Amino acid sequence: MGRLDGKIALIVGGGADGPPNAGEQLSIGNGRATAIMCAREGAAVMVADLNLALAEETAAAIRAAGGIAHAIACDVSREEDCRRAVEETVARFGAIHLMVNNVGIAIGGALLRTATDQFDRMYTVNLRGQFLTMRYAVPEMIKAGGGAIVNVSSLSAVMAGAGIAYEATKAALLGLSRSAAVRYARDHVRVNTILPGLINSSMVRREIGDREARVAPRIPLGRQGTPWEIATAIVFLLSDDASYITGTELIVDGGLRAGEGVRRRDADR
Ligand SMILES: NC(=O)c1ccc[n+]([C@@H]2O[C@H](COP(=O)([O-])OP(=O)(O)OC[C@H]3O[C@@H](n4cnc5c(N)ncnc54)[C@H](O)[C@@H]3O)[C@@H](O)[C@H]2O)c1
Repeated sequence: MGRLDGKIALIVGGGADGPPNAGEQLSIGNGRATAIMCAREGAAVMVADLNLALAEETAAAIRAAGGIAHAIACDVSREEDCRRAVEETVARFGAIHLMVNNVGIAIGGALLRTATDQFDRMYTVNLRGQFLTMRYAVPEMIKAGGGAIVNVSSLSAVMAGAGIAYEATKAALLGLSRSAAVRYARDHVRVNTILPGLINSSMVRREIGDREARVAPRIPLGRQGTPWEIATAIVFLLSDDASYITGTELIVDGGLRAGEGVRRRDADR
């Protein structure tokens, strides 16, 4: 018996846009790992992505393993696409109970290295898109008797260093989640946020390459996380195991944030 048996899930940003790990066929990112794990736990999964081919790849992997999945093109910067992703999920599977907002891009840099149009793009993709998918999904979840949403933020929501627009949008996502969580708790819709630390995901391999040797010494657990470790945490928050958890933030970072003070003390010695 799976923890998400009978549930219908929409994973927004469920492709994996980047090269696979050496020796692996399928590239795995946080979104794809989450979609696959939701299906393994018994959910029927709608995989939405800007790049339909990447969404199809995820859906095909799920079906090849005996799960239920369908793919849809969706650019979260377009309101019409957000509405359609929710509507198509309901039309195809009969309802929507679970949603993961995994889309997140990183453009620009520090304040003086971020152009206004880059900031606008970051806001549109990393925050407005999540507002829109929730705006369309929550009424459907209420109709279905309840649901759960996980928004994928970042440790950059609470720590500087990744660029002003990324940090600002990821921090704002905490507020977006909290606000919806409190307002719709009585409707049995739970909303939580996950804050991944340094993860060896498709996004990182595309943008940065292999950073393991460089970053591992900074991380108390001594290595980057895997997308599967993010997916596990997301599935927990989606499942009834988290029935009393809403409006909160779960850091999954191998101790990176907790270890910051330790590193400073070491430097003082
Ligand atoms: N890897 C890390 O170290 C790390 C750390 C903290 C947070 N995160 C967060 O994890 C998420 C990404 O993880 P991933 O590994 O799945 O990355 P990914 O880039 O491989 O996958 C995200 C998917 O989103 C899609 N996408 C991009 N723009 C879109 C748009 N406008 N509309 C719809 N889909 C769009 C891409 O095509 C891609 O398939 C982001 O929210 C990111 O901020 C990652």
